[in-house]
Amino acid sequence: MKKIVVLTGAGMSAESGIDTFRDSGGLWDKYPVEQVATPEGYHANPQLVLDFYNTRRKELLTVSPNEGHKILGELEKHFKVTIITQNVDDLHERGGSSDVIHLHGELTKVCSTDSPNDSRFIKELEPDNYEVKMGDLAGDGSQLRPYIVWFGEPVPKIEVAIDIVRKADIFIIIGTSMNVYPAAGLLHYVPQSVPVYLIDPKQVNVSRAGVHIIQKGASEGMRLLKKKLLQE
Ligand code: APR
Repeated sequence: MKKIVVLTGAGMSAESGIDTFRDSGGLWDKYPVEQVATPEGYHANPQLVLDFYNTRRKELLTVSPNEGHKILGELEKHFKVTIITQNVDDLHERGGSSDVIHLHGELTKVCSTDSPNDSRFIKELEPDNYEVKMGDLAGDGSQLRPYIVWFGEPVPKIEVAIDIVRKADIFIIIGTSMNVYPAAGLLHYVPQSVPVYLIDPKQVNVSRAGVHIIQKGASEGMRLLKKKLLQE
């Protein structure tokens, strides 16, 4: 089976009703990124940050995967599909994708404040218990924090993502402004012979020639691309 590798961003989940970050009216317009998505912001006001992610987490209960997520799930019948997502929601999994790498963490999980990447202290929350409070402790006795990669923190999964991208036969980018590194840099590791498709309703600047642009939303874009991939 051919290997499809898909890099997704916030636009993948836009049609499910989750705000993107950098579109106008997006999350970073409503909440200062330094306050809610940096280690400094967390240490300055942990309650505010826990509340922000508690709200995002509860939003998961009200949204569903869109057609774009579902088509990516269905493609597993024909291809070996790996999703590398910058999204912290669980809509790829719920849309039927079985191989998902979350570069920026997962809303459904919590970890230790002192050692965020120590797997012994990473815990999946049950949907009926999505609220993290001050005083809830990780296994090492430090405050439980969202399992989210904040600005200024290392991205531990980038190495495994690079290895997967290097072996892609087909590379698809969906719904990311390609502003945030190292995720955006993954495109550099796609071998030159590999076709690259980019689905986004807006123009996205990428530093590679020959990218096939599908200027559509995620669902319509994936509908068109699925047809094309299955014809080949
Ligand atoms: N379908 C596909 N793409 C869409 C749609 C849609 N329906 N609606 C909007 N988009 C596109 C926008 O045009 C934009 O290019 O989604 C992209 C969203 O870009 P950003 O808001 O910058 O999100 P993303 O690229 O995922 O951000 C990367 O930055 O804020 C951090 O950690 C956060 O993971 C996030 C990272």
